[in-house]
Amino acid sequence: MKIYFAPLEGITNHIFRNTFDGIYGHVDKYFSPFISPSEKCAMTPKERKDLAPENNTGINLVPQILTCRSDCFIKAAAELHEMGYSEINLNLGCPSGTVCAKGKGAGFLPETLALQRFLDDIYSYGESGGVKISIKTRLGYYNPDEFYDLLEIFNNFPVSELIVHPRIRSDFYKGEPRKEYFAYALEHSKNPLVYNGNIFTCKDYEELVNSFGSALDPVMLGRGLISDPSLADKLKGLETQTDFAKFKQLHDTVYHGYQDVMSPDINVLYKMRELWSYWQALFDGKERDIKKLLKAKKYAEYDEAVNRILQG
Ligand SMILES: Cc1cc2nc3c(=O)[nH]c(=O)nc-3n(C[C@H](O)[C@H](O)[C@H](O)COP(=O)(O)O)c2cc1C
Repeated sequence: MKIYFAPLEGITNHIFRNTFDGIYGHVDKYFSPFISPSEKCAMTPKERKDLAPENNTGINLVPQILTCRSDCFIKAAAELHEMGYSEINLNLGCPSGTVCAKGKGAGFLPETLALQRFLDDIYSYGESGGVKISIKTRLGYYNPDEFYDLLEIFNNFPVSELIVHPRIRSDFYKGEPRKEYFAYALEHSKNPLVYNGNIFTCKDYEELVNSFGSALDPVMLGRGLISDPSLADKLKGLETQTDFAKFKQLHDTVYHGYQDVMSPDINVLYKMRELWSYWQALFDGKERDIKKLLKAKKYAEYDEAVNRILQG
């Protein structure tokens, strides 16, 4: 089975990706958090650094673009192609208010005529330039039944992989994924499919396999793989339990990686807090120390709490 690491803005940057891949690995593709190119500039210096091949060695990385303008997509894709990338992912799922208000992400889904023209342009570029284009989409903006028309549109293009997060925009990341629409996609998509949404445990995965069988391959994991970094190993049958020695290595390497490039303490600690909002589920009974760690303003306070948590 193939496992893809979902893009998570603010979390799955090159520091996290490299660390994760070095310690755990067994992820077949990583997707970068989106870049949002403008007419003038394909990516910011920070985004360029995050995507630089020298900062992603040995990782199968697919950069993601968020835009509703084909000229901006093509310009950014051409730069990424020159950097060595052969697949680019289009974000049609971001539910954020500011993104959707600009007609991007999930906000592009109701504009079906404009979307078709956009796809005409970018797939002409992709075919002539030898660049594969995959799509990560939701079911629709207002209503999941929008997916029927959207799938017909996607079927007109050589989508290298169609990653379906079976929710609509107003679901954000909450509630049960609308799995029946993924079943519809399995029957009607002409393009290869990838399932994404709410796989947090082996049981979640097994339930999906019971519904979809061997067609559930690849799967894309996001929050589940952050929350339990051993999840890919567990799904692949390589581990049965969360390996806390590996977890400590992941924690320490990411923490020191941020310390090398960020200051003051609090900025690094903000990044670590976001990770702990996922990791805390691994540490039942450690709620007091986790609370301290989430409130820490200086490395010394944070280190003390982490040591208590990780020493068992
Ligand atoms: C904090 C956060 C940031 C995200 N950033 C992105 C992003 O940059 N691009 C994208 O396509 N999806 C993004 N997503 C959506 C995830 O890639 C994924 O589709 C979603 O979390 C559902 O999968 P999961 O249930 O396995 O987490 C983000 C989600 C979260 C929670």
